[in-house]
Amino acid sequence: MSISKKQTRELVDFAADVAMGAGEILKSGFNRNFRVEYKGRIDPVTEYDLKSERYIVSRIAKEYPRHVVLAEEGSGSGEQAEFRWVIDPLDGTVDYAHGFPVYCVSIGLEYNGEMIAGTVYDPERDELFHAARHQGAFLNKTRIAVSKERVLERALLATGFAYNVATAKRNNLGLFARMVKNAQAVRRLGSAALDLCWLAAGRIDGFWELYLHPWDTAASWVIVEEAGGEITRLNGRPYSIFAPDILTANPKLRRIMQEVLTGAQ
Ligand code: IPD
Ligand code: CA
Ligand code: CA
Repeated sequence: MSISKKQTRELVDFAADVAMGAGEILKSGFNRNFRVEYKGRIDPVTEYDLKSERYIVSRIAKEYPRHVVLAEEGSGSGEQAEFRWVIDPLDGTVDYAHGFPVYCVSIGLEYNGEMIAGTVYDPERDELFHAARHQGAFLNKTRIAVSKERVLERALLATGFAYNVATAKRNNLGLFARMVKNAQAVRRLGSAALDLCWLAAGRIDGFWELYLHPWDTAASWVIVEEAGGEITRLNGRPYSIFAPDILTANPKLRRIMQEVLTGAQ
């Protein structure tokens, strides 16, 4: 069975309302004294990651009790289903824990294995990025598009580093050095979901990263594609939210970045 444009739009509107509600929760805790625990050596989780996730998951359970949830802090079974919500209740936890105002809520929706809707809310700038498949990408009420930059030397790029950067064999440091030498500049902001939305809005020309999780990219994937961006693996192969690397830009710049990242030029 397929899903109509109208149904998809209704689901995005619901997700947007939930993302903004969760964003309010995050904003109310920002720069306050809160509990921080550690999932690994440097991978933090604050009490607001958990509060935000509880809020999002309870809203979904109430409205769509048969839908499945895959969420970073462990709610839901995560199994494949007709409808699966893929949720990062707080993307940019290290930023948030330091009072660095770059973080967001990310909620994506998959229908029969395809990401069909995404909303990302940035409470600090009151910016809501949203997209429904085949219906364009928007920042608040304004339609957005990726940049047309085709020259790497003029391109502003973004990337990030996984929490295991100190120990992993494949750690992005070599690729980072290569891109810094070839691009106009490379930023590292601390929220992959926002990096991708800023790319969709033309503020960043290109983005790549290794070892992101499904919830980091699920919602933004739809937003970037609906804004005209191309998303692949670093080697140009098709992307999936479970893939170990991601590369995105407008089609021309993405191709050039792929050549530099894979050492093909
Ligand atoms: C992290 C952010 C960061 C990226 C990390 C992610 P979290 O997510 O998206 O930009 O570089 O790899 O794990 O832990 O803040 O939700
Ligand atoms: Ca994340
Ligand atoms: Ca998170």
